[in-house]
Amino acid sequence: MLTLRLASGKLGPRRGSDLNELGIIEDGAVLCLGGKIVSVGTTKDALRDPWIRKHRKQLTEIDCAGKVVIPGFVDSHTHPVFVSPRLVDFEKHIEGASYEQIADAGGGIRSSLEGVRNAKTAALTERILIAFKDMAAHGTTTVEAKSGYGLTIESELKSLEAIRAAAHRWPGTVVPTLLGAHVVPIEFQGCSQKYVEIVCNEMIPRAARRNLAQFVDVFCDKGAFTPEETGQIFAAAMEHRLSVRAHMGQLSETALAPFLRYKPASFDHMDHVNSEDVQHLAKLDTVATLVPGANYFLGLKTYSDARRFIEAGVPVALATDYNPGTSPTISMPMAMSLACTQMKMSPAEVIAAATINGAWALRMADRKGSIEPGKDADLAVFEVEDYREIPYWFGANHCQITVLNGVIAAHD
Ligand code: NIG
Ligand code: FE
Repeated sequence: MLTLRLASGKLGPRRGSDLNELGIIEDGAVLCLGGKIVSVGTTKDALRDPWIRKHRKQLTEIDCAGKVVIPGFVDSHTHPVFVSPRLVDFEKHIEGASYEQIADAGGGIRSSLEGVRNAKTAALTERILIAFKDMAAHGTTTVEAKSGYGLTIESELKSLEAIRAAAHRWPGTVVPTLLGAHVVPIEFQGCSQKYVEIVCNEMIPRAARRNLAQFVDVFCDKGAFTPEETGQIFAAAMEHRLSVRAHMGQLSETALAPFLRYKPASFDHMDHVNSEDVQHLAKLDTVATLVPGANYFLGLKTYSDARRFIEAGVPVALATDYNPGTSPTISMPMAMSLACTQMKMSPAEVIAAATINGAWALRMADRKGSIEPGKDADLAVFEVEDYREIPYWFGANHCQITVLNGVIAAHD
């Protein structure tokens, strides 16, 4: 059992060599009650425990002998509210078009808007729920879910409502994010400031008032929103007591320092980052969330420089970036495999990045990301003998059971 407990008890997201510490208990056992983890130790101790002996008949036992038990994955970056895959873009990529060329030719994010704008909430909910269930089948128990394919007030709120409705029907934990600033919709081309004002003065206040989002995200890059616009949107989020995160450095470098006063929970992608910003981040709890699925799917030769972040002491998380344009995968083990082979992270580091640091990226490390008493009963059981097999067997799913807030889901 990989508890992800840190022996030093050090607080804060995992950095540097702490990412390699998995808190392994051989022949471990975990007792969960009422959706919470109550005790963690060896099977031998559990079987000797007087309370467990007395109540054993009332407990549901899962025999994990010969398997690996880990904290459920925390997928801290996903875009599940879309209607159709983007298959024409897929073919164009294969023929050599870049992400920006496809967007300029009318593909990309903008081509997903019509489907979401025309969809009923219930139809979106069903699609999101399918993704959540599929995620759970691959070991994910907590998901951050962004809107961002509607880009009108109504369709962004509808997307967040669909996320909420799907969350109510799924036993895992869902963290909703408003990504009204995903791209400037075509109606506002040439007057992006008008759209930014709608995001700041309409979308954010309404989402906050109805408690539909915990975070506000911005795609800050060329072809999307400028640093100035991003600052305006962050300020509006702060005014409405929503935390912020951003897509940063995916296509080009943006100086991060001006945004640090908004205490972003996470900067995501981070393919292009300057050295000064790396030094800044090493001193903060803002997580660098790496999403190698996007680089893989776009056929890029380069990936975010995970080693540079880890060596500098920047906390890194891993996420799928599940979306129809750059990363159509719900699989955390796939993202982890890519992180090992393409970004040279160790199997231990990718497990920490996919669990406890994902929890930090969502500001939920008090409840998620490790197997420790008092935390939520979120577990994944893998039918492998060694945890390194989780990123090793790429493209296959070896997750057998997931426990989501104490609810057992078997995936045979
Ligand atoms: O994380 N970069 C912005 N957002 C997504 C892509 C969205 C899309 O292409 O549909 C990303 O890669
Ligand atoms: Fe994304």
